[in-house]
Amino acid sequence: MVKAVYPGSFDPVTNGHIDIIKRAARICDTLTVSVLNNKSKSPLFSVDERVNMLKDVCSELENVHIDSFSGLLADYVRENDINMVVRGLRAITDFEYELQMAQTNRKLVPFADTVFLTTSLEYAYLSSTTVREVASYGGDISQFVPDSIAKLIYDKLRQEH
Ligand code: COA
Repeated sequence: MVKAVYPGSFDPVTNGHIDIIKRAARICDTLTVSVLNNKSKSPLFSVDERVNMLKDVCSELENVHIDSFSGLLADYVRENDINMVVRGLRAITDFEYELQMAQTNRKLVPFADTVFLTTSLEYAYLSSTTVREVASYGGDISQFVPDSIAKLIYDKLRQEH
């Protein structure tokens, strides 16, 4: 049985992430999308808000579950009997960092492999930072995130000002 995790910050989830989630869900039995409570980033959305956004956009994917974690990914993998880590590769610039993470995790949890999916070309330029920045200037983010998420982003940015 392939039990996979797709970890990330998802601040906010974008169409690029959703593309990876849908494709990863087809190649594993269960996929947990897990939001990292990352102390080194100052997120726009709380972990609970990010979890709820993911639950909303993944509601129709039967084998996809949403969770959150803090600390080491390797510990989370071990504690949850996960045997596959999914990551998206957008461009060659992602590669070095991803390779380093995959190799470190393989040392820490040898029973789990990291599988890379190449992000679909139409999303290869996308990042959560770009989405937040375009939205903060009132730009149109409808091509980058689902409508329900766009609304939450604009609402949150309005609250911040
Ligand atoms: N489409 C669109 N954007 C994508 C994307 C895709 N397919 N894949 C990645 N991105 C973007 C994200 O939006 C994010 O953008 P941002 O930096 O503007 O916010 C950026 O790429 C980083 O991606 P993300 O997937 O959120 O990774 P991360 O670097 O924040 O976190 C973890 C990666 C969670 C896997 C890693 O930090 C981790 O495991 N941390 C736990 C601690 C640990 O175990 N450390 C040791 C690791 S060896």
